[in-house]
Amino acid sequence: MHDPQPIDFALTLEAIISLLPPNLQRPNLGIICGSGLSGLAEDFCQVVIVPYEKIPGFGHSSVPGHKSALAFGLLGPGEGVPVVAMLGRFHPYEGHSMSTVIFPVRVMAKLGVKDLIITNAAGSLNPNIPVGTRKSFLVVIQDHIALPNLTGMNPLLGPQISLDVPRFLPLSNAYSPSLRRLAFLAAHQLSLDRTALAEGTYAWVSGPTYETPAEGRLLRNVGADVVGMSTIPEVLAAREAGLNVMVLSLVTNFVVIPNEYRSIREEVEAELSGKPIELPVVQTVSHEEVLLIGKEKATLMMKLVEKIVELLPVG
Ligand code: 6GU
Repeated sequence: MHDPQPIDFALTLEAIISLLPPNLQRPNLGIICGSGLSGLAEDFCQVVIVPYEKIPGFGHSSVPGHKSALAFGLLGPGEGVPVVAMLGRFHPYEGHSMSTVIFPVRVMAKLGVKDLIITNAAGSLNPNIPVGTRKSFLVVIQDHIALPNLTGMNPLLGPQISLDVPRFLPLSNAYSPSLRRLAFLAAHQLSLDRTALAEGTYAWVSGPTYETPAEGRLLRNVGADVVGMSTIPEVLAAREAGLNVMVLSLVTNFVVIPNEYRSIREEVEAELSGKPIELPVVQTVSHEEVLLIGKEKATLMMKLVEKIVELLPVG
């Protein structure tokens, strides 16, 4: 059912710390960079890259467009905020166990991280969150629907990693109101159009398949605005460790929810009656599209994250 935490935190921390310069300031902010957002580390000062393969207990991210390293550094103007960023994350659909998926967050917490900004790529279920060059495409997540959590696949299933963490973690306050405020203030300071940043609910599905039209309709009908295959495991681990969490979704595509099915029966009947009709072909989502839009929009997402970091209260 679950794999008991097989990993020794002390060993992992020792390995990471041995690869960092001795004078490096411990990070108090963590950032998880989703598809195409790993470029954020290029804006770090005094950057130190630690590849996952050198860290005991870390998996290897196998998704095209994802890197596989931790980046330590200072982000923002002035002295900068000490940060650690995950360039590439682990997903259950790659075959990683849930404990591997959430392990880096637990490690970040032990390194001193207090605030965590998580980014991801997601599909839109909400017609008011359109995809395109000029419209809304960033969403500040205010809540989630995690079908796996409700059906026996909660990432926190299993023994408690320590008696200091809650056994029954409340999630009514999972997404920090003060960090979410900063996102909207940052958008204002960047003079972003009001439609550029939406607020919504993220549905977590396990993937790797994209949704069928019926599944898309289901998620929309229960109140989800966007859907994706990541993030929620990390949110749970972060909340368990007491971190403040903010999630930003980059909307790369629409989930295909046709209003009407193309009826093959109607088509055949029309053909047989000598009056053939043409019905629309249902569109599909492609990972290439997700990566392409992600790449196009990543710069803005990075700018927003950097502005949020600038607005973080010091200490
Ligand atoms: Cl359409 N679905 C899911 N599950 N994840 C996505 C997506 C869609 N688009 C980007 N990520």
